[in-house]
Amino acid sequence: MSHELGSKGVHGHRGKVAVIGQGHIGLRVAVRAAEVGWSVVGYDIDEARVKELTSGLGARDGLETERLSNVLDTGAYMPTFSKQDISGFDVAVIAVPTPVGADGSPELSHIVDAVDLIGKYLKAGAVVSIESSLYPGATEGVVASGLAYSSGKEPGVDFYLGYSPERVDTGNRAYLFENTPKIVSGINDISLDAIDSFYSTLVAKTVRVAGTPEAELAKLMENTFRQVNVALVNEIALAAGTLGIDVGEALRAAETKPFGYMGFHPGTGAGGHCLLSASSYLSWSARNGSGPPLRVVEAAMTVNSSMPGHIVQQIINCIISNDGHVEGSRILVLGLAYKPGVSEVANSPAVDIANALANLGAQVSAADPYVQECPILADSISRVEATPQRCAEADVVVLLVNHKEFDIGRLAEKCRLLVDPLYVTGSRNALRAK
Ligand SMILES: NC(=O)c1ccc[n+]([C@@H]2O[C@H](COP(=O)([O-])OP(=O)(O)OC[C@H]3O[C@@H](n4cnc5c(N)ncnc54)[C@H](O)[C@@H]3O)[C@@H](O)[C@H]2O)c1
Repeated sequence: MSHELGSKGVHGHRGKVAVIGQGHIGLRVAVRAAEVGWSVVGYDIDEARVKELTSGLGARDGLETERLSNVLDTGAYMPTFSKQDISGFDVAVIAVPTPVGADGSPELSHIVDAVDLIGKYLKAGAVVSIESSLYPGATEGVVASGLAYSSGKEPGVDFYLGYSPERVDTGNRAYLFENTPKIVSGINDISLDAIDSFYSTLVAKTVRVAGTPEAELAKLMENTFRQVNVALVNEIALAAGTLGIDVGEALRAAETKPFGYMGFHPGTGAGGHCLLSASSYLSWSARNGSGPPLRVVEAAMTVNSSMPGHIVQQIINCIISNDGHVEGSRILVLGLAYKPGVSEVANSPAVDIANALANLGAQVSAADPYVQECPILADSISRVEATPQRCAEADVVVLLVNHKEFDIGRLAEKCRLLVDPLYVTGSRNALRAK
């Protein structure tokens, strides 16, 4: 038996899609589905977010405002915070947050709420896809049983259920939602066909995976791979520093190997949503399943989360060895985002470092051309532009995010003291007095 969806390309004729959660991920799916002929309702509990989207604003990091405006203008996309607007959907996509709880366990309350809502409006033959990151087994467990409970229907029989993780790399202009291979999975064969059929209308290539736990694990592994390699290079950089070895030079040499090696660069730790939650979900999953703990993953999380502390200490050492005092020092930090080229500040180590310096009594200012609002930044930190004059006025300049807009070679010439934990200016220059 097979399940075919959305064979017609005219707006609305493919059917109705309800996307639950209109943040980074949900909006991308909604806009793309609207562009290819689905009639899309984007539901979000945040009224302010819905108003922003309704007025054509709120497309972020790689999704152009023009694409949002176009689908609003054609009527193919409608943001809403009214639950009943999702009724009659043929496909529902869940893209709500899946954060980590205070004890390190998955916090699935948003998923539970979304499942409850979808179940109430679920009609026979509809398809439900989860895009939120989940631990292995969650789709066929907590999601399937929640939908069965709220709808009174049997998953995989009365409706079709699958998992298709989002792989967006915020700031990456080459690989977008449309041209990144999309993992698709289902709780049974007919669900897999239905999920595959839906996403085949949205993306250039789908990758069928035999089961939802395997697809969930694949997503967590992709992000954990980065977490582990970032930790490895950070730890090696710390060790090389104490051994008096130029790690930047060593990494440049290692990267010339054309096979079996992938370059990662020292930095301030791991930030953003996905790296942290994926590693936490994976290690929680192993421990919760009474399996052996994932020691490498847990060690990597520890190393990366310790990096802001190391860098603050590096800055303190630098100031003291140049006969200064941290308290009252004018420190300019370059970068607040969690990585270059993006505006996202969630879990950003750069923000942690700036806040820690302010707490120590330094007069901190921060420059980041991408970050407009930063509610997690200490109130005492002023926002400035990264100009040569600002650098000259500061006692210490710290490069925390290597945005291409920072002309660091030019700025460095004006700095009295430059701390470069990213090794952009060369590792031996990590502490550099002019
Ligand atoms: N941001 C990324 O780069 C990225 C990449 C891959 C996967 N993911 C995963 O995708 C999921 C969504 O992430 P995001 O970055 O879009 O989050 P986000 O915080 O940008 O957006 C989530 C949206 O969901 C809304 N929401 C919360 N509960 C809701 C509910 N019950 N009903 C309707 N709306 C609700 C929030 O108001 C918010 O607007 C998470 O599981 C995340 O781990 C994110």
